[in-house]
Amino acid sequence: MNDPTPDQIRREARRLQKELTEHSYQYHVLDDPVISDAEYDILLKRLIEIEEEFPEFSTPDSPTKRVGAPPLSAFKQARHSIAMLSLDNAFNDQDVLDFHKRIVKNLNREDILYTVEPKLDGVAVELTYENGVLVQATTRGDGITGEVITENVRTIGSVPLKLHGDKTKTPFLLEVRGEVIIKKTDFDLLNKKRLENKENVFANPRNAAAGSLRQLDSKITATRPLDIFVYGIGLVQGISFQSQSQMLTLLKEFGFPVNPNIESGINIDKVLKFYKELEVIRENLDYEIDGMVIKVDDFSLQRQLGEKIKSPRWAIAYKFAAMQRTTTIKDIIIQVGRTGTLTPVAILEPVNVGGVMVSRATLHNEDEIKRKDIRIGDTALVVRAGDVIPKVVKSIKSQRNGNEIAFKMPTICPVCQSEIEKIKRDKSHINKCINASCQAQFKGRIKHFVSKKALDIDGLGKKIVDQLVNEGLIKSFADIFLLEKDTLADLDRMAQKSAANLVASVEKSKKVSLRRFLYALGIDHTGENAAKLISEKFSTLKDIMETSEDVLQQINGIGPETAQSVSDFFSNRENMAIIKDVINCGVEISNDQPVIAESNNNPFNNKRVVLTGTLQTMPRSKAKKQLEKLGAAISSSISSKTHFLIAGQKPGSKFVKAQKFGIEIMDETRLTALFNQYL
Ligand code: IVH
Repeated sequence: MNDPTPDQIRREARRLQKELTEHSYQYHVLDDPVISDAEYDILLKRLIEIEEEFPEFSTPDSPTKRVGAPPLSAFKQARHSIAMLSLDNAFNDQDVLDFHKRIVKNLNREDILYTVEPKLDGVAVELTYENGVLVQATTRGDGITGEVITENVRTIGSVPLKLHGDKTKTPFLLEVRGEVIIKKTDFDLLNKKRLENKENVFANPRNAAAGSLRQLDSKITATRPLDIFVYGIGLVQGISFQSQSQMLTLLKEFGFPVNPNIESGINIDKVLKFYKELEVIRENLDYEIDGMVIKVDDFSLQRQLGEKIKSPRWAIAYKFAAMQRTTTIKDIIIQVGRTGTLTPVAILEPVNVGGVMVSRATLHNEDEIKRKDIRIGDTALVVRAGDVIPKVVKSIKSQRNGNEIAFKMPTICPVCQSEIEKIKRDKSHINKCINASCQAQFKGRIKHFVSKKALDIDGLGKKIVDQLVNEGLIKSFADIFLLEKDTLADLDRMAQKSAANLVASVEKSKKVSLRRFLYALGIDHTGENAAKLISEKFSTLKDIMETSEDVLQQINGIGPETAQSVSDFFSNRENMAIIKDVINCGVEISNDQPVIAESNNNPFNNKRVVLTGTLQTMPRSKAKKQLEKLGAAISSSISSKTHFLIAGQKPGSKFVKAQKFGIEIMDETRLTALFNQYL
């Protein structure tokens, strides 16, 4: 056989470049790979071989450029054709309404429509495409001049090296602006790997993204899981855009990742509504956002409004309330929980963190205080995320004046003066009060018993429980059901009305589901989910009491620790007496869960499932794991044997194929609903 001619090799190189570009787009932008990583690597290896032997066939948009280039000695600077402005901030609805009012007045019309986008917490960049090919990437810098980071940006899998679509429509010049980010799940993996390799971990995804883009050696950048969402343009020639929404649609067609959580053409009321929704879904998004950007949609109106020196008049950032604040640690106290664990808690100078006044924050355990060198009197950074307990992240050592006091863990329980046991748990130690009748533990058990997810007794808050136990009015679970209105009315913070309400909610709580009651007992390793799984398997509490550890362990999702704790709990006479007393007080435990004879009685059991497109509330890997838990077999391609297709945003070719085969297509809302029902 003759050696291939240079022309044949050139054609092979072009074909490989084209194929690899398409696969990279399927994988990074559509999140819907059609070939395996190994197959991709084989094709890439072949292309690298060709380009090394025939450098003349290597082009700036070749996928081989994604692996990084020789290191630079310094970054060059480049001036932006059009300044990269920043945004004014709004902190409440009124600020946004004022922004809208200014626009209405300025344009002398009421019917203003906006596009709203999540405000991504990453690093702003500008990408320059000449005749459809990425030729330069820069940081925002000071807005006028940025650093040239082209080689680093080429390594980002989701950045197109060449624009997609009809070549005849390729603009002569296109400057695209967006935010380089690292997804939360990728960030966690990255830090985990760094920890294993004894490297410093990154503080947050934004720092990690910024640090990765600042590498002079793009081969290092290539190892970082960088991603991008684009949201704007700079100078363009050979194309015109009429509005923000139309621009985003076209950028998507050019192959750029555009955030799927964007709404367009909405009035100011809907803008405010979207902010509230975004606040709710924020925690579930796989990337960090710190607010919402509101933009006048119509570009001709944007031009009429114009810009100030640093920011446009047509856009504003509606920031989320800061979830991090600094404050002083006035004291460190010890809290004894219902299982006896001693938790150090920082008493803070009260501070507003994201709209909530915080005066206490957990310090987790003794090891953590030592590791972070947190002292009484320190200025500290406090964070709050969602509805979890606020925590102290670090102390700010530069603010010390020498009067700070190091914390010492007590050697006896501060509540009952019993001995403390030191137990190793994962990587740190916990200190436990060994006295099961310690009053703090007892109070903890009562608080848990009446809490929202347990018996849900409205009006029986922590402070009331403390008083009732202190006054000897509650000595057991059963005493709760014997509380009388007049006794309650005499307590602090109580009056006739609130006492009557409390008695009524106690009465109501007497009808309780098996699932809630089991959870309320506060058995070790038996949280809400375990209680749910167990109660689905048995009809009555008596059945659970009489079952064996072995049977419990056979329940899907119940581990050996839980099985043993539950079994131990019900073998203990004292516990049985406590339950008997409760039942004698008129508590009726019924099973409101359908008892599932087979725990694999769910729609996915033994079914073939395929996923496509991007999921918004969980990474695909998690969805797969959950589906597997339910007994599904996941496959990567659709065939006539497929039972379900789970379709996220931007579903790929699998969607069409599934329709052709008449396969049931399920969206993310339905999927999460089924997970909630069966997991
Ligand atoms: S538009 C003049 N859209 O926020 C328009 N910016 O304070 C300015 N950012 O430097 C940019 N998400 O880094 C825009 N959806 C979004 C954004 C966004 C994050 C950042 C960007 C910019 C800063 C402005």
